[in-house]
Amino acid sequence: MGIHDEDLQRVKVESDLAGIVSQYVALRKVGQRFSGLCPFHNEKTPSFSVNAEEGFFYCFGCQKSGDAITFVREIEHLDFVGAVEWLANRMGISLRYTDASDGTARKERQELSELLEKAAEFYHQTLRTGKGAGKARSYLRSRGFDSETVEQFRIGYAPDQWDALASHLNVPTEKLEAAGLGRPGPRGGPIDFFRDRVMFPVADANGVVVGFGGRMMPDGQQPKYKNTAKTRLYDKSKVLYGLHWAKKQIVAEDEIIVCEGYTDVIGCFRAGLDRAVATCGTALTDDHVKTMVRFAKRIVIAFDADGAGKAAADRFYEWEDRHNAEVFVAAIPDGADPGQLAEENPEALQEAIRSAEPFLSYRINRVLDRSDLNRAEGRARAAADTGAIIAEHPNEVVRDQYLVETAQKVRVDIEQMRRLIVKPAPTPNRAPVPQRGDQEHDEPSQTAPPRETPQVEVNLLRALVHDPAIVKPLALQAMFADPVAIEAFQLVTTDGWRDRMGDCSETVTALIARLLVEEVTGDPVELVSRALDALIGRWNTELRYDVNDIEQLRQHQPIVQWLAQRQEEMHSDETRSAAVEAVVDWLRNQETTDQSS
Ligand code: UTP
Ligand code: MN
Repeated sequence: MGIHDEDLQRVKVESDLAGIVSQYVALRKVGQRFSGLCPFHNEKTPSFSVNAEEGFFYCFGCQKSGDAITFVREIEHLDFVGAVEWLANRMGISLRYTDASDGTARKERQELSELLEKAAEFYHQTLRTGKGAGKARSYLRSRGFDSETVEQFRIGYAPDQWDALASHLNVPTEKLEAAGLGRPGPRGGPIDFFRDRVMFPVADANGVVVGFGGRMMPDGQQPKYKNTAKTRLYDKSKVLYGLHWAKKQIVAEDEIIVCEGYTDVIGCFRAGLDRAVATCGTALTDDHVKTMVRFAKRIVIAFDADGAGKAAADRFYEWEDRHNAEVFVAAIPDGADPGQLAEENPEALQEAIRSAEPFLSYRINRVLDRSDLNRAEGRARAAADTGAIIAEHPNEVVRDQYLVETAQKVRVDIEQMRRLIVKPAPTPNRAPVPQRGDQEHDEPSQTAPPRETPQVEVNLLRALVHDPAIVKPLALQAMFADPVAIEAFQLVTTDGWRDRMGDCSETVTALIARLLVEEVTGDPVELVSRALDALIGRWNTELRYDVNDIEQLRQHQPIVQWLAQRQEEMHSDETRSAAVEAVVDWLRNQETTDQSS
């Protein structure tokens, strides 16, 4: 899917990065740039910098960097086109698409979401003021949902009629069906999908309504919940209820609480745990986890009492491994769910979340809680049961840690316990999943520790980026020895390089992004002179190694002396400029001679 280049350029040029960033974090002006707490990692002192003029950001803490599009992609979790659309929307730029069908598909989605938005409003207003909604209002009140909660979560009510929504929306039945709101009735006209139900609007991460969950009234028709069926906008295996309300807090705390139900999310929020989401009538999927880890690595499962215990363990371990997540489980008391607990005892809910345990530890403790460790048979049983649980964990080191700890608790000899958890053979499906390769690629530090770019070269690059008019005529590739600096130099001396940053290696992009938010300290010509100083030093050293006899040395002597004089001059403010120019000219001649020879 492509966006017309002209429109893309317009979005790039007109995006106000500082303004956009300030929607997410408070920025303070520091010299030429803005600084604030990084929205991408947890920190207490600001290391996130924005160069508003250049439209670039860089974080000294987590090294995230880029332009407005990158920022929106990262923070809103959108793809490239999505981020451009997001920005264009904000700036009132209408986009043209290179492929007409893209525009059409987008328009159709747009139409659906407008319909869903209208439906959400209709249900919500009906609940607030509708004549037939009195019993829904009193039902919610009886559950402790005050009007503030109804507003906050935009709770609604679908009237107890066949076509209340359909006649309100008044669109062709196919449209209602495509949005998951209705279907053709037996008499030709449309009938509503949700009737006589308390409605929970479900939105995507950006707050765009994509579907609904509808709970039956206490005296209403089963099933307890009806959820929007799969539509172009709604896929229950991907969507997370509450994400757009919770995401800011999820990122801030680097923790996401995941529940089973709509009312659990609302309960968590009411108990001050405003980082909760829920799956909508389905088990947790790989896609859910993928979405969650983009916001936080620590996932706290807060399912109904022992819902997590019954969940498929190997999938949790697989997700931890594959998505680099940490899965914790909150122990919800028997017979309760987070929603109820929030009403009855919010402190207990907070405590359950606070003391959530790693999944394996949670499972072991459940077994130990149920065991009679005062009797030999009870201990043997507990050893066997916990052994079986430990054996399921794919990581040997983790298994061993739990083995030692648990053997002590069940008072069984460690070697005996070890025999219980021995895995007969490595499970073949533990082979690295394809995505791992990419991850390893992202972390070159594991194979080769990154080499620091020398400060003189960094300083020169920074001056080059900020003061190209003065520095570019003086800067030459020969002034750089570090490979990263050389690549950066090549990039920033290319026309239109800002659009090509993506073509470079991540290290180079990160270096340049950092330079863009840093300020030049000192006179640019002096920075060039320092780089020349270093270059001459290197050159002298090489000469000492390369020259074999007196004759050769004699040949080089005049230039060595000449350079030494210029070096001297570069130390003084009055003579520096001329000396720098002279050496740069000489270097340039060297380059052309090298090339022609
Ligand atoms: P629960 O039965 O635990 O309901 O189902 P709940 O969310 O706690 O709701 P209240 O507080 O009793 O009113 C948990 C989730 O499972 C899905 C829904 O998403 C629900 O929120 N579910 C449940 C269905 O999809 N269909 C059902 O019939 C029941
Ligand atoms: Mn429940």
